[in-house]
Amino acid sequence: MISGTIDTIRIKATKELNQSKRAELGQFLTPSVIAKFMAGLFKKDYNTPIHLLDAGAGVGSLTAAFLDRKLNGWNANHDIQITAYEIDAILLPYLRKNISEYKSLLSKENCVLKESLLNLDFIVDAVLKIEKECPPVFTHAILNPPYKKINSSSQHRFLLSSIGFETVNLYTAFVALSLMQLKDNGELVAIIPRSFCNGNYYKSFRKLITQNAAIKHIHLFESRTQAFKDDDVLQENIIIHLIKGAPQGKVIVSRSTNESLNDFTENSYPYEQIVKPDDSEAFIHIPNLKENLIENSDAITYTLADLGVEVSTGPVVDFRVKEHLFMEPENGTIPLLYPNHFNGKELDWPKQSKKPNAIALNLDTQKMFYPSGFYTLVRRFSSKEEKQRVVARVVNPEMLKSKFIGIENHLNVFHSAKKGISEDLAYGIAAYLNSSFVDIHFRSFSGHTQVNATDLRQMKYPSKNELSKLGKWAKKFKTFDQVKIDEQLMKIL
Ligand SMILES: C[S@@+](CC[C@H](N)C(=O)[O-])C[C@H]1O[C@@H](n2cnc3c(N)ncnc32)[C@H](O)[C@@H]1O
Repeated sequence: MISGTIDTIRIKATKELNQSKRAELGQFLTPSVIAKFMAGLFKKDYNTPIHLLDAGAGVGSLTAAFLDRKLNGWNANHDIQITAYEIDAILLPYLRKNISEYKSLLSKENCVLKESLLNLDFIVDAVLKIEKECPPVFTHAILNPPYKKINSSSQHRFLLSSIGFETVNLYTAFVALSLMQLKDNGELVAIIPRSFCNGNYYKSFRKLITQNAAIKHIHLFESRTQAFKDDDVLQENIIIHLIKGAPQGKVIVSRSTNESLNDFTENSYPYEQIVKPDDSEAFIHIPNLKENLIENSDAITYTLADLGVEVSTGPVVDFRVKEHLFMEPENGTIPLLYPNHFNGKELDWPKQSKKPNAIALNLDTQKMFYPSGFYTLVRRFSSKEEKQRVVARVVNPEMLKSKFIGIENHLNVFHSAKKGISEDLAYGIAAYLNSSFVDIHFRSFSGHTQVNATDLRQMKYPSKNELSKLGKWAKKFKTFDQVKIDEQLMKIL
């Protein structure tokens, strides 16, 4: 019904919100097209009574889309109960009015709608219910939860810990608590940031999902700015559809670049391609539209341990060792390498810039340094605009002419037991990492621009022999030319 008008209500209510509290409460209300898509993901036939949870309901856009399905002939034969939580009293009158309109529309279809609209903190109330071991009551949950970091000393963190769930963001808390309160075979559809798909902070959340539910569908908004265009939210969002306790089958992955979903595409993938069976981190890989050749290659199956190589974050945190830094190399100092030294396929050092070039070698600092040798370095941070996420270069000891080198914390370093690796392997790893295949593969499991040592550690590599051959070949060129590297890699993929 009111999908046209609900957008007007949403925009009007958003203007009335206390703008300084908006970020704190994560108040970005869902446009009706997205809400309709989300509600459309629930199973078509439903023959037992429905109890829907809408946690952080705003003006009720998601519940409205859910009820629209019933009005539009959804084959669900029972009455509907709704429990909606909304902490902000400003939004409650809008929510009440919307639901009461649906109540009268549904009554004309002989469907009784019972609602419980709660001006409560969802986390507090849900934890209370879980602690009291109240049996799960919900058959469906639809949510666009607030996205906000949970402070380590906050009441939310304390409450979540009390039920054994550690998490760092409100959105993962909302989804986890909703899942816990779903009945078996209950369905959950949520629009959330993609950041939980990898990274150590979200491991327990990923485990909770993968151990308790089947992932049926993931929709990826490929452009960062589009899902909440009116609100200018810079997040890469996904919509996820889970079924509690159901056997895991294939996963549908759909994609679109905008909120009108007019360029929608979808494919289905074996679950093992989304969550690797032997991955203790339970990373969630969302295959990129461009074919992920690495994923499917029999030649790229080696771990760093197989190569006898490790990767670590650069140990020199410059602001902690300020007194030891030097803008120019001097007697008693060694090279300190930053991302801004990246040049060609190696480094340009020393370099005129705002960053230091050297660090004192003394008893306080020495333990942070690597001995002279060949190493592959990877930048940890890139900007959203940059074409490539993974950018690698080689430390060539001939250029630095120093017994030790310092590697700053904005870099990752490939080494072997804290020593250098063979020259060919260093160039080979760098060439491989600079390929577009790695870029596509990396984007399939990482939603952010950061490249962490854990990400590089869990990736697969060609064999040591193939990497060394690639390195020997790559050394001949002035730069790592992605097109040439791709052509070379295609021979082994
Ligand atoms: C991202 S908005 C989405 C609103 C609505 N679900 C929609 O899709 O339009 C999140 C909502 O959660 C509410 N909220 C934030 N923290 C909450 C909490 N602890 N308990 C209940 N609601 C909360 C906010 O006021 C906001 O309305």
